[in-house]
Amino acid sequence: MNKILDGIKIGQQIQQEIKEDLAKKNIRPGLAVVLVGEDAPSQLYVSKKKKACQEVGIDFHEYLLDVDTSQEHLLETIDFLNKDENVDAILVQLPLPEQFDTDKIITALDPKKDVDGFHKENIKNFLKDKSIITPGLPLGVLRLIEQTKEKLGNKQAVIVSKGKIFSQPMIKILEDRKMKVSLVKPDDKNLAKLTSTADVLIVSCGVPFLIKENMVKKDAIVIDIGINKIDKDYVVGDVDYSGVFDKVKFITPVPGGVGPMTIAMLLYNTVKLAEAK
Ligand code: GUN
Repeated sequence: MNKILDGIKIGQQIQQEIKEDLAKKNIRPGLAVVLVGEDAPSQLYVSKKKKACQEVGIDFHEYLLDVDTSQEHLLETIDFLNKDENVDAILVQLPLPEQFDTDKIITALDPKKDVDGFHKENIKNFLKDKSIITPGLPLGVLRLIEQTKEKLGNKQAVIVSKGKIFSQPMIKILEDRKMKVSLVKPDDKNLAKLTSTADVLIVSCGVPFLIKENMVKKDAIVIDIGINKIDKDYVVGDVDYSGVFDKVKFITPVPGGVGPMTIAMLLYNTVKLAEAK
């Protein structure tokens, strides 16, 4: 089996399945994406989401708001989309410009349309197995891990991450599959010792080349969520890819690993919300 976990290829397969499923059921879900300001990476992500929606047959409702839009106007936009019958799913592209209270914006979403699964109510439901969707990023990571066909039960997973919004659902997903899971912050003094125990190592911290060869276990599965722009045409992950490559059993490239999977999972979750309506 190929050592490189190819998110572009697996994402394309999932998108093809979604396209066929929508054609068979003759439904056309609607996804609204709200982008505030002109952050270049965010513009690129939104354009990729738009293209993917068009390819599978999901209506893409694009709301591009000025960088100096008021919080009130953004809340009104969300209220409008919450009520719009043609919109099944809403995504507010993050990060928002600094004048916004992100928590307040997420809380304003109708939880039934919150396609990221970021709303407090949805996080609570997810942790109690009562949610319609699984948040896209951890779901995409799971699909990549499953692609390896390795047994997960009783194996050790280590997640290197600062934020709870990703790590909390990721921990649950892995524990549900009977893995032992440890969470470690990138600045922990025992980082290398912990990451060296990982059968599955998942890294999401935005520090280029943080994980070096001496920090991975032999034959580990390594999932790199980092996207770090080194210069205009050069993007790397949080893992020293070429340094660890020979030692590990499976690894995701950056770009072309987790990124395309999150887009496929966004489409998947949009369909789920549309069907649940
Ligand atoms: N910005 C980068 N990734 C994401 C994502 O998955 N959802 C949202 N809302 N914003 C993002």
